[in-house]
Amino acid sequence: MENKEDILRRGRLAAEKKKEVGEFTASIPADRWLFPSDLLVDKAHTVMLARQGIIAKEDAAAILKALAAIEQEGVDAVNIPAFEDVHMAIESKLIKSVGENAGGRMHSGRSRNDEVATCIRISTRRELLGLMADLQDLRNALLAMAEDHKETLMPGFTHLQHAQPTTLAHHMLAHASSFGRDFERLADAMKFVNISPLGSAAFASTGYNLDRELTAKLLGFDRPMDNSMDGVSARDFILDLTSRMAIIEVNLSRLADELVLWSTSEFGFIELSDTYASTSSIMPQKKNPDVLELVRGRSGTVIGHMMAAFTIVKGLPYSYNSDLQEVTPQLLRAFEITRSSVRIMTGAIQTITVKKDEMRRKSTMGFTTATEIADTIVRSTGLPFRTAHGIVGRLAREGGNPSLADVDRASVEMIGKKVSEMGLTEKMVEEAKDPWSNVERRSIIGGPALITVEKKISSERKKGLLDAAMLSKLNDSLEAAYRNLDQAVRSMTEGHS
Ligand code: ARG
Repeated sequence: MENKEDILRRGRLAAEKKKEVGEFTASIPADRWLFPSDLLVDKAHTVMLARQGIIAKEDAAAILKALAAIEQEGVDAVNIPAFEDVHMAIESKLIKSVGENAGGRMHSGRSRNDEVATCIRISTRRELLGLMADLQDLRNALLAMAEDHKETLMPGFTHLQHAQPTTLAHHMLAHASSFGRDFERLADAMKFVNISPLGSAAFASTGYNLDRELTAKLLGFDRPMDNSMDGVSARDFILDLTSRMAIIEVNLSRLADELVLWSTSEFGFIELSDTYASTSSIMPQKKNPDVLELVRGRSGTVIGHMMAAFTIVKGLPYSYNSDLQEVTPQLLRAFEITRSSVRIMTGAIQTITVKKDEMRRKSTMGFTTATEIADTIVRSTGLPFRTAHGIVGRLAREGGNPSLADVDRASVEMIGKKVSEMGLTEKMVEEAKDPWSNVERRSIIGGPALITVEKKISSERKKGLLDAAMLSKLNDSLEAAYRNLDQAVRSMTEGHS
């Protein structure tokens, strides 16, 4: 059946789409995500068409007013499911509202190919700035925890075996460092996102004299993309961002995994706030870290979205193919999951209870001071490290916590000489066994010593402030661009009531 009101199909196609086909080709969640961006693109394109004399000022004014009304009514009023996509839904509503003689001119010199590519970049930019702000909160939560626990001793692990004493601050600052790099990676990604495909049309650009610099500027882009085929075909910014988000998710997952472990009776290092925990439907005593388990689990989902995006794009010829529509939801879901996971992790960190005494008690369990005893033997006797390593290794077989006499016995077994006769004293051994002294000795760059951790906290805070300033500059310049676009729209609609 033919539908003469279908502005897209009434020309070329004689029959209406089957319902099942319509449902199959739709991408509603992504289209809803693109709705506000599409209105911006429509406005900027219309202003530019009128300024270039491609459409009449009166027609532009009518279009812009109708777009404002559509914006007012919101995404539900355009009824996306009744159309092929959000672009057709908006254009159809526009034409219905102002008539085809004006409304039918908006799409001059444009294709949905450059339109959607531009919309995705605008929505992406918004999410990217949001995710950067979310990450800032997480970094600050980790720094606050580090500040509170500069002297909270704990065992550090390698191979998940007790290894050496450190502090909770040192451990949390490690995570703060990786999220700091994640932030940097996002900031760096912006330059690949913030370029405008608008004006590329289907792929070969257009014979209309479009001002691509103007639309780019009105939409807050750095510049127009300078190859129209690239403009509509490129989705590498999505591959890039989903990869960067997959890295954030892996970093979150590792932290979540530690917190899950630390909340067990075996570790007993922390207790999650009740507001970030669940219980069991059968075992009344249970307090489960579901929230963090899901943070850990969803990293798998985001990696899946990244893989999906890569796999969809991989074999595609230039320029536009509908396969590309399937990429957008991967990005959108990756943003949703990554942003909510970062925020959930921030809240969990802010409300955690640290069981300092248990952490301190376990900081020496498993002979974690063995390395320092070996180092002390080296420093006091001049023996090679490998020899000292062997002596202390023997003591470990006996369970650790050696006295000077124990060390002597082991050294006699190893080298036939007593280390006490070569300069090692009881006091030195006692000091080497003290976990706080282990920490304090490690004061070179990057170590857990109080002074080093304080320096690290202050450099992280400084970096955080610079990053915050950069972020608000990005937000400000975007807002300024939108204000400028609003102004351009207003000056075109005023006097045309
Ligand atoms: N909904 C489409 C997408 O997301 C818009 C572009 C459609 N272009 C086309 N030639 N069918 O990619």
